[in-house]
Amino acid sequence: MKAKIAVIAGDGIGPEVVAEGVRVLTRVGRKFGHEFSLEAAPFGGAAIDLAGDPLPKHTLDACLAADAVLLGAIGGPKWGPSSPVRPEQGLLRIRRELGVYANLRPIKLLPALRDSSAIKPEILDGVDLVFVRELTGGIYFGEKSRTATQATDVCTYTVAEVERITRVAGRLAQARRRKIVSIDKSNVLETSRLWREVAERVVKSEFPGVSLEHMLVDSAAMHLIRRPTDFDVIVTENMFGDILTDEGAMLASSLGVLPSASLGDGRRGLYEPIHGSAPDIAGKGIANPVGTILSVALLLRHSLGLGTEAAAVEAAVTAAIDAGARTADIAEKGRSVLGTTAMGDAILAAMG
Ligand code: IPM
Ligand code: MG
Repeated sequence: MKAKIAVIAGDGIGPEVVAEGVRVLTRVGRKFGHEFSLEAAPFGGAAIDLAGDPLPKHTLDACLAADAVLLGAIGGPKWGPSSPVRPEQGLLRIRRELGVYANLRPIKLLPALRDSSAIKPEILDGVDLVFVRELTGGIYFGEKSRTATQATDVCTYTVAEVERITRVAGRLAQARRRKIVSIDKSNVLETSRLWREVAERVVKSEFPGVSLEHMLVDSAAMHLIRRPTDFDVIVTENMFGDILTDEGAMLASSLGVLPSASLGDGRRGLYEPIHGSAPDIAGKGIANPVGTILSVALLLRHSLGLGTEAAAVEAAVTAAIDAGARTADIAEKGRSVLGTTAMGDAILAAMG
């Protein structure tokens, strides 16, 4: 097949991990006979420096014209909270412009990594869950205001927004273990009370055979660590999803290994590792490329419909890690450690 992929590497370790993702994409193209045309475009802080805008028009146009977008990470101390233009604004805008309201963050423990997590291995065995994070609404996108003495961020959700994200969770659950936990703060927030009602109605009426449990976000934060294998599909609003997925990453050993897919109603999607730009290790060649490479697998599966190719990439990651390949973030004490490119090499070698 032919496909156009926009590549927006961004800041910090973004370019380093995306380079490995691109090598994997290129290898998949060659091995399976696909023609992927890749277009790199500036994004985030790098684009602010270049053009004064974290999402310049030609970058957005390239993303809108592509079948899928591969994104690294954005942000850094150079463009901190007090700068007038911030990279994060570009990230929020691209999610909104592409209409990718459903952010899938699968968390699966690779058995070979059970001893490299901060959490006791016996709690982790069998962890296999997926977060469905609402990505284009809520407090991230509400009206903001600031005076000398106060600041406001408005959180809004519409019925239609909750319906469509619940449907994504419902369809996923049907293909998995048929169990959804919806996370909210309905004892305090009006948006959460709406969320709970709508989620309840959609699952009951449209997804018979799928169970739905509601959980308050504080309690969910605890249960996620205490009994993670009880979870299958978790659906939640934008900010709760942001926070809980970083916590959830610890169940898979490291933020560095987790991919994400952001999807809308069409096939086009935005694919990014869930980790950030990690300015502290940027440029050192030690970042873990696995989150990006697994995001490439999600891109192949969800936007290009290439399930076999996606599975081949995932199998290569598992094989490389089973064979002992480790970047610093997932290495057990005393094990030798690979840099970003060497980790990419190990995964490419496993692809054959
Ligand atoms: C994420 C990130 C972003 C978010 C930041 C960088 C704006 O933390 O993708 O989880 O909060 O959505
Ligand atoms: Mg986050």
